[in-house]
Amino acid sequence: MDHRPDWLNHAYTESLNKIRTVSRKIGASFPHVCLNGSYNCEEASFWTSGFWGGLLWLAYRETKEESLRELAETIEQKLNVPLHDFYDIHHDVGFMYLPTAVVNYQWTGNEESRRTGLIAASHLAGRFNLKGQFIRAWTDRVDPNSTGWAIIDCLMNLPLLFWASKETSDPRFRHIAVAHADTVLKHFVREDWTVPHIVSFDPETGEKIENLGGQGLGPDSAWSRGQAWAIYGFAIAARETGKPEYRLAAQNIANYFLSHLPEDQVPYWDFRSEDKDKFARDSTASACTASGLLELSALMEEESEKSFYYERALAILKGLYDNYADFSGRQDAILTKGTVSYPVNKHVNVPIIYGDYYFVEALGKLHGHPGLF
Ligand code: GLY
Repeated sequence: MDHRPDWLNHAYTESLNKIRTVSRKIGASFPHVCLNGSYNCEEASFWTSGFWGGLLWLAYRETKEESLRELAETIEQKLNVPLHDFYDIHHDVGFMYLPTAVVNYQWTGNEESRRTGLIAASHLAGRFNLKGQFIRAWTDRVDPNSTGWAIIDCLMNLPLLFWASKETSDPRFRHIAVAHADTVLKHFVREDWTVPHIVSFDPETGEKIENLGGQGLGPDSAWSRGQAWAIYGFAIAARETGKPEYRLAAQNIANYFLSHLPEDQVPYWDFRSEDKDKFARDSTASACTASGLLELSALMEEESEKSFYYERALAILKGLYDNYADFSGRQDAILTKGTVSYPVNKHVNVPIIYGDYYFVEALGKLHGHPGLF
């Protein structure tokens, strides 16, 4: 007997249908944002290039349609190019290779996929700054001043290191993940349980220099997607290490996020944005947080806390379904109104691929499946 509410089954079925339909249109490509109804296509080295492959695997898991798996495998082949080119590779190898090569290896035992995942993990480990105990985010090509920069998003790349340690029975990768997460706890997480986007360190001495606003309003603001990365990233770090301080951080950052959400369950691009800028929303922050809250719920010991985070995840997904999901066929994307970067006016209130990814991943969790990483 299916006890799930009708809206939840409908959201999942329609999302899977959309992925199948859109796969026939865009094939093995690298969508980032959906403009005038159609997904664009970025370079394979762009940080979002793993999400469409991840969506294809999520849909394949449920439908077993071979064409979806074949497209995901073609994407994986294309992702080998930036990996071996090296110069354009950055810390987002987790976002890129976990939902593609690592999933393929875990589900099919493909040895080439395992190799790809381990090479990607080695790149990530190689970005560790020993003095500052952080993983460097971007390359000089992205920003020549970024040698000493760590960003909150990187917590979501750490599962690649946790996986590599388990896969090789070698703790080095995990040690780096834990050192980075400890640095985030120490230097990003504020007393009010919010985080900035970027922290700048002296790359020679490792001393913290300052917080930077990045895609948020400013150094002291609370960029909503950054809070989402922190919630989900610390929940996974807690799951993988059992360290209670990571769970506490995930819980408290989540409490901040939840207590500042507007009624429709989608935050402004920054929780501290001025009223005049509040028209810009970020549905991706809600989708990512919902999936992260389901991880957090599973980690809680008290039944009341488990059900609190579970119910809040459900409420966010319902808010997205009611107010931000488009199953009309008029656009390739599922969710509307994500914001890439408000400060530089880049893609404000547009559908974004990772919003769709975390939405479908969370719906999959509510249909009895684990997340992909
Ligand atoms: N990782 C970049 C972003 O969240 O926009």
